[in-house]
Amino acid sequence: MTPATSAVPVRLTVNGERRALDVEARRSLADVLRRDLRLTGTTVGCETGVCGSCTVLLDDEPVRACAMLAVQADGGSVETVESLAPADGELGPLQTVFRDHFALQCGFCTPGFLMLATALLRREPDPDRTAVRACVSANLCRCTGYQPVVDAVCAAAAACASARAEEEA
Ligand code: FES
Ligand code: FES
Repeated sequence: MTPATSAVPVRLTVNGERRALDVEARRSLADVLRRDLRLTGTTVGCETGVCGSCTVLLDDEPVRACAMLAVQADGGSVETVESLAPADGELGPLQTVFRDHFALQCGFCTPGFLMLATALLRREPDPDRTAVRACVSANLCRCTGYQPVVDAVCAAAAACASARAEEEA
C-alpha cells in the first residue's frame, strides 16, 4: 500500500516576491523552485549536493537547493539566477561579465557559479584572486577549466570597485 503523502505549508520570499505553497515534505527546494514556481534557471545535475549547479541563495547564503528540503527553507528569502537579470530580459552585470570573459561553455553550471559569485561579492566586495578561486572551487564545471570563471568574478569585483570610487569622488 502506498503511504499517504501530505502537503505542508511553506512560505518563501522568492526573488523578492512572497510565495505561499503547499508541498510534500520530501520535496527538495530545487524541485519546488523549478516545477512549482517555474524558475528553471536553477539547474540540477548530480542531485546529491556535490556539483553545485543548483546553488541558490537562502537568506544571502549559498545553499545546494537539491540537498535542501523546501520545508527547511520555510520563512526564508530565496534568490535564484533569475533575480540577476533585469525585467527587460537583458543580462545583468554579473551575467554580462561572465559572457564577456567566456566563463561558460555548455552553461549548465553557470547559474550555480553566478549565485556563488553574487554571495561572495556581497560579503567581500573586493576579493583577491585567491579568495575568488576558493569561492568557485565549491562548484564543479566540466567545460571551462575555471580560469575564465575566476577572471570574470575578478573583473566584476574590479568594476564594482571602480563604480564605488567614482561615486565617492
Ligand atoms: S544538483 Fe545540487 S549539488 Fe549537484
Ligand atoms: S560550462 Fe559546461 S559544465 Fe560548466
